[in-house]
Amino acid sequence: MPDVVQRGLEDVVALESKICFIDGHKGRLIYRGYDIRELAEHSTFEETAYLLWYGRLPTGPQLADLTHRLAALRTLPPRVVELVDRMPADSNPMDVLRTAVSALAIFEPGELRPGPSSIGGAQRLTAVLPTILGQFHRRRAGLPPLEPKPSWSHAAYLLYALLDREGSALETRAIDVALILHADHELNASTFAARVTASTLSDLYSAVTSAVGTLKGPLHGGANEQVMRLLAEIDSVDRVETVIKSKLAAHERIMGFGHRVYKVEDPRATILREWSRKIGEAKHDLHYFELLRKVEEIVHREKGLYPNVDFYSGSIYALLGIPHDLFTPIFASSRIAGWTAHVLEEYDDLRLIRPTARYVGSTDLSYVDVGRRP
Ligand code: ACO
Repeated sequence: MPDVVQRGLEDVVALESKICFIDGHKGRLIYRGYDIRELAEHSTFEETAYLLWYGRLPTGPQLADLTHRLAALRTLPPRVVELVDRMPADSNPMDVLRTAVSALAIFEPGELRPGPSSIGGAQRLTAVLPTILGQFHRRRAGLPPLEPKPSWSHAAYLLYALLDREGSALETRAIDVALILHADHELNASTFAARVTASTLSDLYSAVTSAVGTLKGPLHGGANEQVMRLLAEIDSVDRVETVIKSKLAAHERIMGFGHRVYKVEDPRATILREWSRKIGEAKHDLHYFELLRKVEEIVHREKGLYPNVDFYSGSIYALLGIPHDLFTPIFASSRIAGWTAHVLEEYDDLRLIRPTARYVGSTDLSYVDVGRRP
């Protein structure tokens, strides 16, 4: 048995995959052979999801068919609507999402119930996440109920579900780009959780339930909300240096910085920085952008750390008027494409994922009756 403990499985190659490649030293991210910068420039979320699921870019009719299919799969079963409506208004939306995905496995109508390795299940779950979020958020915000908007893209529908208005072309494109950038990232913690679940031959809904719970953590998808908390605490550009330095002196982590794989700037942060500026200019409000730039400068100077995908995304969503607790659920509404692509790949090349631990506890204790224990 090997004697080396790789805490956090750092640098451990656990499986082979054809879905996503990260070059952490060159700051490159590739989906199925295509550079993320090209996809963010030219593609859409639907096209990117097709690429992740099927391994190739779609033809025009294939893309139209997928776009139509996703839109047609948006409706929730009434029992799940009822369940979401009964959740307290102050629930964490990631808890709502996790619970609703889990419940969907039970209440899904027969014709939608996917087989254990079905691409139809991947599409159904992708289509329905914005509906779950919209159903929850609109009720708690007193907004009118959702309409399915069958001709709208995933990005446009998500924006409408969270805001009750149609986004402008620029706003919708900003969300679409964010969805493309978040759609996959190799064996990140939530995707790994999904693959571990799938590797037991459990179903897609269980795998996605595991993934949603894992994404929620502030060291993973939850960091984007924490960045906005930091900006609120800092409040003005002239306080950035003092606040950041005092946090670093107290050995606090600065959310939105650092990455297990990237040793240079995360290419998604580069693209989102530009979108944060663009949306700030369009809204005549560069407050967040200026704060973020200054935080970036100080953290890089003090710790040599670069921003990750979570650093700029929240500023874009906040300027569109989206509440902070919906930022991580937006991440989920994109990463669902990657999660499900990985689960399908896992089913195709199945090997139970079961690492081992080095035992460092006792082995020679003798049982003492409860009444005689000190
Ligand atoms: N702020 C301050 N210091 C940091 C940060 C940070 N954000 N990230 C890493 N460091 C420091 C650590 O304190 C450590 O310093 P030390 O060697 O002096 O003790 C060193 O950098 C290495 O840190 P590790 O924890 O070993 O790096 P790891 O690969 O485990 O961490 C992680 C990666 C969890 C993302 C980390 O950088 C972090 O906590 N970042 C903040 C949370 C965050 O933004 N998460 C989103 C990541 S992207 C995503 O999941 C979608």
